Amino acid sequence: MNQEKVFGNLIDGEWRVSQENQPIEVLSPVDGSLVGKLSSMSHQELDQAIAAAKHAQKSWAAYPVYRKAQLMYKAADLLEQRVEEISDCLVMEIAKDKKSAVSEVIRSADLLRYTADVGKSLQGEAIFGDSFPGGSRDKMSCVTRVPVGTVLAISPFNYPVNLAISKIGPALMGGNTVILKPATQGAVSALMMVQALQEAGLPAGVLNTVTGLGSVIGDYVVSHKDVNFINFTGSTEVGQHISSLTSMTPVIMELGGKDAAIVLEDADLDFAADNIVDGAYSYSGQRCTAVKRILVLDSVADQLVEKLKARIERLKVGDPREKGVTVTPLVSKKSADFVEHLMRTAVEKGAHIVTGGKREENLLYPTLLDHVTTDMDIAWVEPFGPVLPVIRVASVEEAIEIANRSEYGLQSSVFTNNLNKAFAIAAQLEVGTVQINNKPERGPDNFPFLGVKSSGMGTQGVRYSIESMTRPKAVTINLASNEG
Ligand code: NAP
Ligand code: G3P
Repeated sequence: MNQEKVFGNLIDGEWRVSQENQPIEVLSPVDGSLVGKLSSMSHQELDQAIAAAKHAQKSWAAYPVYRKAQLMYKAADLLEQRVEEISDCLVMEIAKDKKSAVSEVIRSADLLRYTADVGKSLQGEAIFGDSFPGGSRDKMSCVTRVPVGTVLAISPFNYPVNLAISKIGPALMGGNTVILKPATQGAVSALMMVQALQEAGLPAGVLNTVTGLGSVIGDYVVSHKDVNFINFTGSTEVGQHISSLTSMTPVIMELGGKDAAIVLEDADLDFAADNIVDGAYSYSGQRCTAVKRILVLDSVADQLVEKLKARIERLKVGDPREKGVTVTPLVSKKSADFVEHLMRTAVEKGAHIVTGGKREENLLYPTLLDHVTTDMDIAWVEPFGPVLPVIRVASVEEAIEIANRSEYGLQSSVFTNNLNKAFAIAAQLEVGTVQINNKPERGPDNFPFLGVKSSGMGTQGVRYSIESMTRPKAVTINLASNEG
């Protein structure tokens, strides 16, 4: 990493540094060191990036699918070759532990290859009119999928590589051009990833980037007339704001969550505890799919809490550069203050700190809060940090009711040895995905991934993402009218 260098943006095949505004300094949450400087783009420079994407789109749509796929395979190889460099940057830029950072890059390369495979095999269909009452076999609709145009991909800080690639790959394979707006904290890693994609040989203008604070450039780009689709991952607050500005632009939104782990009386409690601790505290709980509350039956609550405590106290806490660390400093002081405030107010209302509760600057120790009740904010709010509330319930019905009372609906886990019961509960949970005997998680990335209620709209997952960012185009052949 050249810390003095201002990272430019990829616009129309060239890396350009903003000429107009002072650069933004990205500082490391690990030690405050400078990770890099970013261009803070002016409206005119944003227009240039969007115009480049618009200009390139028609020829990219016409580019043969097998050649698009070849570029994806090559980009995946280049990404893997740079895994050390990019993962080192992730470690310093967003304080992700090295193992998770490496796995994020490798997973992204896998996702690109898989996207290329799926993109190559997507087929259209032919439909005869006589399958509808009164219709005729003289009519046949040839249905293909066409790109939506220029996709604005907006990614969050917690997966700067993966949550950008999971938008870029499917958008490009669908024939769209892309403008990536990465989170400011995470943008240096994201731009390094984009360099690899570009060096694979993408034609000029097919992939472009824009940087600048979301609060400064966001409204301008999301409401730009030449953006045809927005694929956003981030907080519910920003997602709702974007929705309020973009009434006729189609969107996919992956937003916040409050995923519940429901633990029944017959669950394997050791297995549940292993999964819950992994799900709640990896990357310090800064994952949309982190376990963010436990709803446990009274009769097994004491045992589960004891098992969780033992496992949490074995987690390694500290500097993400050290081997085996799980809990690292949060991304900003603001986040750490927010999580600490949620813990404090819960304790004031009667929650018990079973373990944790300690803070050193932005590093919060993994915390388990027991006897959390539904009048506490921590029962409902997404902390995005290493704190896990335990809500004890008297019945399965009560667990389902509290699970569904949340404004969020990303995922839920159910731990039980009774598969029939698990399916019956799953049917009642208002979420995108129910995990039976597993922590919530996004992957494997070919599965559908979606949130309901305030957790989002639209569906991701390789094939689903390509379908979301393309639309059917029907050409109807009227055979009878051609006779004679
Ligand atoms: P965030 O603050 O909402 O930011 C997300 C992105 O939006 C960033 O690129 C940000 O840019 C940009 N942005 C901010 N204001 C904008 C505006 N007015 N217009 C357009 N873009 C704007 O979220 P975050 O803190 O990065 O990520 C954490 C949140 O994301 C959590 O709530 C988490 O649950 C959610 N998340 C959800 C999923 C999912 O799949 N459901 C996955 C990951 C994360 P700046 O960085 O420059 O402000
Ligand atoms: O928080 C973002 C989301 O994509 C998490 O993915 O694989 O950690 O469940 P994963």
